[in-house]
Amino acid sequence: MSKCSNTHKAVVMKAISPSLLSADFGNMKRDVELLNASGCDFLHLDIMDGVFVPNISFGIPVVKSIASYAKKPLDAHLMIVEPERWIDNFADLGVRILSIHYEACTHLNRAMQQMHSRGLMAGVAFNPSTPVSALEEIVCNCDVVLLMSVNPGFGAQAFIPGSLDKISRLKKLIAEKGSKALIEVDGGVSMANHSELFNAGADILVAGNAIFTSDDPIAAIEALKS
Ligand code: DX5
Ligand code: ZN
Repeated sequence: MSKCSNTHKAVVMKAISPSLLSADFGNMKRDVELLNASGCDFLHLDIMDGVFVPNISFGIPVVKSIASYAKKPLDAHLMIVEPERWIDNFADLGVRILSIHYEACTHLNRAMQQMHSRGLMAGVAFNPSTPVSALEEIVCNCDVVLLMSVNPGFGAQAFIPGSLDKISRLKKLIAEKGSKALIEVDGGVSMANHSELFNAGADILVAGNAIFTSDDPIAAIEALKS
């Protein structure tokens, strides 16, 4: 298997990216300020268009507002068709990680170049039904691979069990290629599975329901990191 030419591995960490999809939209500023004061590493923004996924969440004006009071780096996950059309908008808003779906983008290599030219950490997200092998030709260009462990579109869904093995296979592909990509796992992350997800090779865990239904979200974030 051919190797990546840019082989530096970003710092590996047990990072948590709380999903604001589970926040109280009527109190978004309050919830973001709570996360600002927590040990979380990113803020995960789930952008849905009602076409790529059967749900609509929030868009550019809401992200702009969140960016004005967020103190954590923004981690945007675009579940939209033709995501490449919006790369500049998200770069202008100062997001750190931008992930677009393998299934939604025809010219993924070009989109990764576009993200890098704007200084973004470039991420490719892929659905539960998409095989790890589909990423062979793009993983060298990724800073992040976002592995969906539920079908995208909704929070609070059950973790798809086969995703654990998929993380291990993705980790193997990244190692074989010598890629610097971090593995981010999204969907159904809980107190019951976070340790095995990190052990299988996840670097960043997204969690919505597990954090925002907790009586103490800050303690929940600490527990997920441990
Ligand atoms: C699903 C989203 C996820 C979701 C995670 O389409 O991409 O980020 O909000 O939520 P939980 O942790 O509740 O599964
Ligand atoms: Zn997400």
